[in-house]
Amino acid sequence: MTDAFDAVLPPRLPAPVEAEAFAPSNIALAKYWGKRDAGLNLPLNSSLSVSLADWGTHTRVTPAERDVTVFNGQVLGDVDPFSAKVFTFVERFRRGQHLPLRVETTNSIPTAAGLASSASGFAALVLALGDCFQLALPRETLSMLARFGSGSATRSLWQGFVRWDRGRRPDGRDSHARPLDTHWADFRIAVVPVDTGPKARSSRDGMGHTVATSPLYPGWPDRAEADCDAMEAAVRSRDFDTLGPLAEANALAMHATMFSARPSLIYLKVRSWQMLERLWQAREDGLSAYATMDAGPNVKVLFLGSEEAAVATLFPEARIIAPFAHSS
Ligand code: PMV
Repeated sequence: MTDAFDAVLPPRLPAPVEAEAFAPSNIALAKYWGKRDAGLNLPLNSSLSVSLADWGTHTRVTPAERDVTVFNGQVLGDVDPFSAKVFTFVERFRRGQHLPLRVETTNSIPTAAGLASSASGFAALVLALGDCFQLALPRETLSMLARFGSGSATRSLWQGFVRWDRGRRPDGRDSHARPLDTHWADFRIAVVPVDTGPKARSSRDGMGHTVATSPLYPGWPDRAEADCDAMEAAVRSRDFDTLGPLAEANALAMHATMFSARPSLIYLKVRSWQMLERLWQAREDGLSAYATMDAGPNVKVLFLGSEEAAVATLFPEARIIAPFAHSS
């Protein structure tokens, strides 16, 4: 099978020029959970996310004497795991050609929010590399390439609501994201920090373990695909009363597949449950807000602008993001 990078990049890259790019982080409302091909990083189900406006990663790539990685202003050693991840991806682009680069990455995601940045990191890197080698590739193609960095990176190539289609081709060329083109000015996300330390187990490992051992996992892919379709329709019609409950149910179903893995995999902490109970109690009292959680303990709350004051009171430590505040 032709390598995905060979298939879309010229055999010989031109000399690099300085380039920079920004990509937002994203939160999945319909989760990606499980791979059908680990080597090509192909998902078993489609997913749908919303991007986090100016929370993301800025990357600058410059021609250099030798490969150098700079993260948040600090030069990293060659054996640093972050540096290794960056240059493993860069090397997929270069495919053995001697084109040394300096890659400077700056995250604008507050560390205190405890959000992973690999999605925005690989998306910004692929955008910067595309410009650095003057490739003028369509964004969908860059999204397909970003998939090799991390699955969720496919969705960080755009702001707003984005859907990653699972695709059907064995070579994965049709497995990339696309924007949904729905501007929903009122849409809000609150990030409720629970534990902002490093993850206990990467999502890559966690999903592999769940697919391999959970007796509940076989029920996930079809349900997740149906949830993704239903959430796309709800986004398009700006139907929060459908979207919110579906997003919460989808996230809890994903965590249920992990709880039932053998041995069990539990990313949620006592405090995550306390936040969920606080939210569910407020919902009984009339609040319209719903939760979603990824492969980590932090809770994200979805709601509309009319509930912003109530959510800020309920979760004083939360950071509230208006994903459509900066675009028209
Ligand atoms: O692509 P990764 O390895 O960052 O995995 C993402 C997994 C979830 O965050 C749990 C779900 C998702 O769709 O983002």
